[in-house]
Amino acid sequence: MMPNQEKTPLPFEKNLLHYGRDFQPEMIARAKGSYLFTENGHEILDFSSGQMCATIGHNHPNIIKAMTKAGDTVLHLDSTMVSRDVVALVEQLCSLLPDPLNKGMLLNTGGEANEAAIRLAKIATGKFEIVGMSGSWHGTTTGAASATYAHGRKGYGPAVPGSLAIPAPNCYRCPLRKSLDSCEMACLDFGFEMIDATSVGQVAAVIVEPLQSAGGIIVPPMGYLKRLRAKCDERSILLIFDESQTGLGRAGKMFGFEYEGVVPDIITLSKTLGGGLPLSAVITSDKIAQMAKDNGFSHYTSHASDPFTATVGLAVVDTIIKEGLVERSARIGQYLKDKLLELQKRHDAVGDVRGHGLILGVEIVANRETREPGYDLIKVLTKRCFELGLNVNQVGGPHTVWRLAPPLTISESEIDRAVDIIDTSLTELS
Ligand SMILES: Cc1ncc(COP(=O)(O)O)c(C=O)c1O
Repeated sequence: MMPNQEKTPLPFEKNLLHYGRDFQPEMIARAKGSYLFTENGHEILDFSSGQMCATIGHNHPNIIKAMTKAGDTVLHLDSTMVSRDVVALVEQLCSLLPDPLNKGMLLNTGGEANEAAIRLAKIATGKFEIVGMSGSWHGTTTGAASATYAHGRKGYGPAVPGSLAIPAPNCYRCPLRKSLDSCEMACLDFGFEMIDATSVGQVAAVIVEPLQSAGGIIVPPMGYLKRLRAKCDERSILLIFDESQTGLGRAGKMFGFEYEGVVPDIITLSKTLGGGLPLSAVITSDKIAQMAKDNGFSHYTSHASDPFTATVGLAVVDTIIKEGLVERSARIGQYLKDKLLELQKRHDAVGDVRGHGLILGVEIVANRETREPGYDLIKVLTKRCFELGLNVNQVGGPHTVWRLAPPLTISESEIDRAVDIIDTSLTELS
């Protein structure tokens, strides 16, 4: 697996700004399908799909074809001009979404789409308070970051005034220390009691991920999103679903909200949409779009409605549909989940296995009885998995949850190989 042990010196100390976690110790030379190939000849199964974006696998030929088509036609335009592919992609997304979600715009990153969704909610309602959820991640631009509670809040001065939060429905580590069979979703009731108490009566929207990713693969208990929708409706608050990670099949359905059939007022899509290129969308109803327009909504960015990424997005969505990747995500995701549950039986460090489709979480614990987080264990395990040829992200508050999210095109034999690597790393540990 590592034929050439002589490592190329890594040039990142000199000019690359350190913008987060440490860089991986090997330079990536190329990527294809589920694999990354380093300059040292190390083959790595990519269970983070890049930064959760390589939905149809790295460098899929349909993406390359679409990039060439855009290069031969049009890449970029004045934001007041649109190309056929921009219209076609928005139309395609609206046709996949239920009514009344039928007005959308294309942007680039997830943070940007959430920023637009928040601005849209504010200008449409004339209110300014935004409710997020503990453990959430919506981006690093100021509005999106103010509604983000996973990490990265400290050190940048005040959040946007009117930023409020409810606790995440983390059933493995209940914020109210209850157990699922006796909780009756008390966290949601308590969260809204706090919102009612702390709000100045100007709540424009609640923004949540239907399945929280960076927060540790937190799957809300069935019925939670319905009750959340009802609580928003009772208070005339808009509901925004951030489906950056769950949208377009990753969670085993076309959209994460389908598990409960709860339709938001605004939805944002990003990562999975561009297949590795920067593309995002914000989609709402005619009614909200009209209210925003009437109040003077303006959201220009240099790359709003860029034809280049729209052409690629069309190819990604088309591939997802034609190759049946939503059903595949559900089926192969269950195959992976069953294997992880089997590992849980044999390895005490595996505290919990959860998630839907191909966005699964494995919580590593130091003690299964007490659920003491396995802070040090997971670091050793993740490093060992990488050496053995598996890239897997650590997420969750204390970073003790593995997020397993390979491309939706992954094969069963690649899953088997990844599970063998995890098994080996856990066996070595004991
Ligand atoms: C659910 C969710 N929303 C939004 C974002 C922000 O996306 P971007 O990094 O493209 O701005 C992320 C990024 O991890 C995310 O996980």
